[in-house]
Amino acid sequence: MKIVVKDDRQQFDHAAALEIVHLIHAKPHAVIGLATGNTPKGLYKVLGEMCKKKEVDFSEVITLNLDEYLGIDPDNPGSCRCYLQERFYDHVNTKQENTYYLNSHPHDYEKECKRYDQLIEDLGGIDLLILGIGHNGHLGFNEPSTPFGSTVHVCPLTDRTRTANIWSFGSKDKVPTEGITMGIKSIMNCKKLMMLANGEAKADIVHKALYDKITEKTPASILQLHNDVVIILDEDAARFI
Ligand code: F6R
Repeated sequence: MKIVVKDDRQQFDHAAALEIVHLIHAKPHAVIGLATGNTPKGLYKVLGEMCKKKEVDFSEVITLNLDEYLGIDPDNPGSCRCYLQERFYDHVNTKQENTYYLNSHPHDYEKECKRYDQLIEDLGGIDLLILGIGHNGHLGFNEPSTPFGSTVHVCPLTDRTRTANIWSFGSKDKVPTEGITMGIKSIMNCKKLMMLANGEAKADIVHKALYDKITEKTPASILQLHNDVVIILDEDAARFI
């Protein structure tokens, strides 16, 4: 496990962006899984700027989202799909046919999970997955006690996670109660993982996930077992490391 600690947010965003850029330079048709949330906002901004300056070319890159809220329209501004559209796709030269999403309103939940599992397999697996970490150690929408063997699945969102995501929906009653997410096994099957965390509020859980025991109660603790993972932190999140 490689742990990188950066002095400030600018360096943090830049270090995360360089991981993606280096991958694309080495493999222009890389398959990249995308998280949403507060943490990677700066990363997507930097990637947009670098693409504009032609320092990176996304034209062959294949992307897919890590997770999505369930029971909302795809054009709901709080959806992961809209987040990625506004913060990432609108600023880079990805091709629409190379971008994949989880359906936020599938007729058949089980079929949607199977479709996404199959999609990941058909793409030849994910070269790099961008991850954040929840205050309770969740990865994607895999809340504590999600089985480590889980693939794409539907999951209830904890009260704490819903509260943390009020910013994207405006009020708590609008935050969906369920999500659909790559499971822990799907995450561990990715060739490389990049987990990002910034801010003091993440310091405890980052320490617990990286140094405490590996348990389903702390989903991110599984990262200790992955053989190619980079953790990028700012100084605040790295406070107990
Ligand atoms: C979002 C996701 C979540 C977030 C996590 C941290 O796609 O998968 O696991 O990464 O909740 O969220 P922020 O970055 O808002 O603290």
